Amino acid sequence: MKIAHISDIHCNYGSDFNSKVFDSAVKLLNKTDSDLVFISGDLTTCGLLSEYKLANEKLKEINGKIVIVPGNHDERNLGYKLFPEFFGDPSFIHTYKNLSFVGLPSSEPDKDDGRLGRRRHRLIERGIKKGKKLTIVGFHHHLIPVPNSGREKNIIEDAGETLDIILKNEIPLVLMGHRHVPYGVKIHKTLLVNAGTFSCNRTRAHFGHTFNIIDINNENITVTVVNITNNKQKKMIKFNLENRHYKNRYYNPDTRIE
Ligand SMILES: [Fe+2]
Ligand SMILES: [Fe+2]
Repeated sequence: MKIAHISDIHCNYGSDFNSKVFDSAVKLLNKTDSDLVFISGDLTTCGLLSEYKLANEKLKEINGKIVIVPGNHDERNLGYKLFPEFFGDPSFIHTYKNLSFVGLPSSEPDKDDGRLGRRRHRLIERGIKKGKKLTIVGFHHHLIPVPNSGREKNIIEDAGETLDIILKNEIPLVLMGHRHVPYGVKIHKTLLVNAGTFSCNRTRAHFGHTFNIIDINNENITVTVVNITNNKQKKMIKFNLENRHYKNRYYNPDTRIE
């Protein structure tokens, strides 16, 4: 199974959204021929109706099945009421051939901090009980500090409780966004992966615009970062599902100015 993991699109009519980058990013994304596109939040910048409408239009350019969770920006200005109208239930368990995908809203109205809470923790446990071979959990905020993203803030408030459930149950993969840089690291037997920003002008140093391709087969999970600016792909992580060993190249962008 191939999952394209994209994040932080930031559709808006101000300075955040880069529609040119979005269009070239979608061309690259559609070429990946992924089974699923997971969007880990911040589809808008202020959660406004006009931004939701724009995001809805722009997402029509993406081929294939899309699953979406909201980000902190999507919950601003009552945006949390609009999200279900446009993109469906922000909490879900979807089952595919041999995996369960648990999507959760980690945001709260008008706050940049995130929190999952007990109800969503129970949903993770329900996803595990579905008995599929593999469980993937996806939400917007990060569970642990992400390097190259400035002063640390906005880790979900109940990161300890959430990590405890994830690590004890040996969930192999957690997908997140929010920090606008791609990153991946293993803790115990779990791979934690962040996607960078797809089309927001607020990029960090040379990290630019990226998305991740997650290839999953019976033996391995491979995470590749696609640099949208130069269309270069870098394999970041190879994670063995049997022994849970991994190789991490710790993604670094090409710093050459082109
Ligand atoms: Fe964002
Ligand atoms: Fe965010």
